[in-house]
Amino acid sequence: MISLKVNGRDLRLDTDPDTPLLWAIRDELGLTGTKFGCGIGMCGACTVHVGGQATRACITPISAVEGAEVTTIEGLDPQDNHPVQEAWRNLRVPQCGYCQSGQIMQAAALLRDMPDPSDDDIDAVMTGNLCRCMTYPRIRNAVRQAAAAMKGN
Ligand code: FES
Ligand code: FES
Repeated sequence: MISLKVNGRDLRLDTDPDTPLLWAIRDELGLTGTKFGCGIGMCGACTVHVGGQATRACITPISAVEGAEVTTIEGLDPQDNHPVQEAWRNLRVPQCGYCQSGQIMQAAALLRDMPDPSDDDIDAVMTGNLCRCMTYPRIRNAVRQAAAAMKGN
């Protein structure tokens, strides 16, 4: 049994300790907002927060998050109104959308660690989150807009 907290819920999962966190999130908990892209930690589609840190769920065994607090896109904000989500909607960032929950989770972690990032900071942190639709300019603008909104709060 693995105990963890997902989106504020205490859970115990009867699963192989080597099971990737992404499998547990999607298949056992039914939280399908987190996506499978590459499966080798190279694309960022599966990004969630573990203890507040952006984490690639596809290469994180469930045993590594024993006792930890995991947040998925579904738990980022109760009304889906995190400033990053609002900026993403304002600027219509997504195209096909597949990479976007990972992008948003990475951006939210970035702004928690770095409330006033430069463009270079944004690019450095977001570079590991790939988007085959090339929404990168809108992502950068949305991160800037979310940072400004969070400073105003
Ligand atoms: S699916 Fe996890 S980094 Fe690509
Ligand atoms: S919006 Fe299509 S992969 Fe990023």
